[in-house]
Amino acid sequence: MTNTETASMKAVESPELAVAASNENVVDISAAHRDSNLDEILDGLDRELVGLKPVKAYIRQIASLLLVARLREKVGLATERPTLHMCFTGRPGTGKTTVAMRMAKILQHLGYLRRGHLVVATRDDLVGQYVGHTAPKTKEILKKAMGGVLFIDEAYYLYRPENERDYGQEAIEMLLQVMENQREDLVVVLAGYQERMNTFFQFNPGFRSRIAHHISFPNYTLEELTAIAELMLQQQNYVFDDEARRAFGEYLELRRKQPHFANARSVRNAIDRIKLRQANRLVAEGGCVAKEELLRITASDILQSRVFKGGLEMELGDADACNESDERRGGT
Ligand SMILES: Nc1ncnc2c1ncn2[C@@H]1O[C@H](COP(=O)(O)OP(=O)(O)OP(=O)(O)O)[C@@H](O)[C@H]1O
Ligand SMILES: [Mg+2]
Repeated sequence: MTNTETASMKAVESPELAVAASNENVVDISAAHRDSNLDEILDGLDRELVGLKPVKAYIRQIASLLLVARLREKVGLATERPTLHMCFTGRPGTGKTTVAMRMAKILQHLGYLRRGHLVVATRDDLVGQYVGHTAPKTKEILKKAMGGVLFIDEAYYLYRPENERDYGQEAIEMLLQVMENQREDLVVVLAGYQERMNTFFQFNPGFRSRIAHHISFPNYTLEELTAIAELMLQQQNYVFDDEARRAFGEYLELRRKQPHFANARSVRNAIDRIKLRQANRLVAEGGCVAKEELLRITASDILQSRVFKGGLEMELGDADACNESDERRGGT
């Protein structure tokens, strides 16, 4: 690109996504990038979600793809709308639903989706128990999701080959059709465990061929889990003191080795229990307390967890029991 060209593009006041007025065969990618506020949104994603480096890198790539696709359209290069159906694999609590929600917003921002909302569905929301029940259920969910992202959690449960007359197949066929014919208006994200998803794709090649992006969510490291905890606390106006931070590290080491550990979801649940204990402690101590004390989580709020007692006891008044069954279910 010559200097004159660069100068003339800079002179364009309102770049209308930056086709240079003087030369309609030139587009100013930097201006388009700036105008889209993309960096602000992606930086927000970096700040508010800990770790997830490969996931964030992938999102940046998709965002670039869409930006370039729009510019190509502007200069009259016939472009097929990129297919954006995705598959998110990873263990529970690795951020799949959270990222899908962010992704929906980003796609809306880039003009790819009308509404940018997220509808989460599982097999039970899509598949009926009796003849004739599946189609209306699936239709209803699809209708709700149009203009946004339909997130199907543990999508492989739609396929139950052991039951010859399983109604899941009906839902699968409807989904496949919509993913093809209405991809202008709906992004489908399938989520679940990697291995089960691979098997699901083997038996349902129609899904595999419609999904353009496979993103895998790694388990969080101990440092990331701690950072997630600190971020969650900060958002709720709490803070670990130094000993509490150490105690929480020990808690995580133990909790991580236990069954049904669910990454950031377990961190969230642990924090809820810690807040209960802090409140209990403050009420028991009574008297007047400074604002800092209302903020502060101490080691004792953490060390009371039954995880430190071999995890066998159920503490009365502790929410461990119900929260754990939540984690077991997986949830979204
Ligand atoms: N990287 C992260 N930084 C901060 N908070 C996070 C991060 N990842 C997840 N969380 C938080 O952890 C919780 C669980 O995350 P999320 O529901 O997105 O996980 P998931 O992969 O969908 O889990 P599941 O498979 O169990 O449905 C949410 O409260 C979310 O806000
Ligand atoms: Mg989820």
